[in-house]
Amino acid sequence: MPASIPVVIDTDPGVDDALALALALASPELSVRAVTTVAGNVDLATGTANAGYLLRILAPGRGIRLGQGCAKPLARDLVTAEEVHGSDGLAGITGHEGWRRRSADSTDIAADAVDVIIEEVAQSPEPVTVIALGPLTNVAAALQRDPAAMRRAAGIVVMGGSLHAGGNVTPRAEFNFYVDPEAADAVMASGLPVVVTPLDVTHQLAVSDETVESRLLSRPEPRSAFLGELIRRARAEQFTGRGGKLLLHDPAAVATLLWPELFTMQSHALTVGGGDGDQRGAMRPTTDNDAGPERTPSQVAVDVAADSAVKRIVERLVAVGDPG
Ligand code: RIB
Ligand code: CA
Repeated sequence: MPASIPVVIDTDPGVDDALALALALASPELSVRAVTTVAGNVDLATGTANAGYLLRILAPGRGIRLGQGCAKPLARDLVTAEEVHGSDGLAGITGHEGWRRRSADSTDIAADAVDVIIEEVAQSPEPVTVIALGPLTNVAAALQRDPAAMRRAAGIVVMGGSLHAGGNVTPRAEFNFYVDPEAADAVMASGLPVVVTPLDVTHQLAVSDETVESRLLSRPEPRSAFLGELIRRARAEQFTGRGGKLLLHDPAAVATLLWPELFTMQSHALTVGGGDGDQRGAMRPTTDNDAGPERTPSQVAVDVAADSAVKRIVERLVAVGDPG
């Protein structure tokens, strides 16, 4: 087995964020060094409480650092998505008799998320990959605060954007890039190796029937039962998807690290639109008409072996409770 990839996961949990975290924590190919929270699907306090709650359930005793990050985008008011993820951000499961969540307390929050990202990237002997599953506010803030340190990163894996698949907030904009377009554009201009997993591929990856939740709910291990109940609720309440489909947006970003051979990548220097018009949050290839220095191309997933990707994600989630 090659050495595991050290990662920091920046997240706005979020139902699909929770599944992505479970996938990463269950994957020996990855070494999760820290989890950092950013406002997005839900407000920062709720997202941080969810992250601490998820780490207690999914990674008890692993001592994974938790940092709390930016409560709002770099230059805008926060837009959240409780209609997609539920008022608690996790399809209501935190109010479920067996899975009650206490409010975030001091034991949950280790430090400032931006400092945690910078420290983990700067101090790791092996280059760290930042997996960004929410608005890119924390990552952009880390690039601003200590660009020299952040240049040590192996790269930034981003769930966000849409090249040709249309948006899920406006006709052009995907949620993470819509919430903080300035942060997203700064990451695309950073010069770091960026891999973008846009709606073009995540719309192909879904849990579409009760098979997965049934398999998980039939297992004795608490982590499996938790994931089964989360998926059951998300699908039943029509969260995070369309018509009972649970779209695997954030797990797809983790999957590009685990199984890159399943993804078709194109190289594009990218720009993310700002302003408040129809270009807000819209991701597009940069053109000669765009001002500013030439941008380092990002790798953009434009297609995926969808059946294989869903099967591998599901099998990894079903096995979370396995010993070892
Ligand atoms: O557009 C989907 C993305 O926005 C996912 O990361 C989801 O969790 C939300 O953050
Ligand atoms: Ca997310």
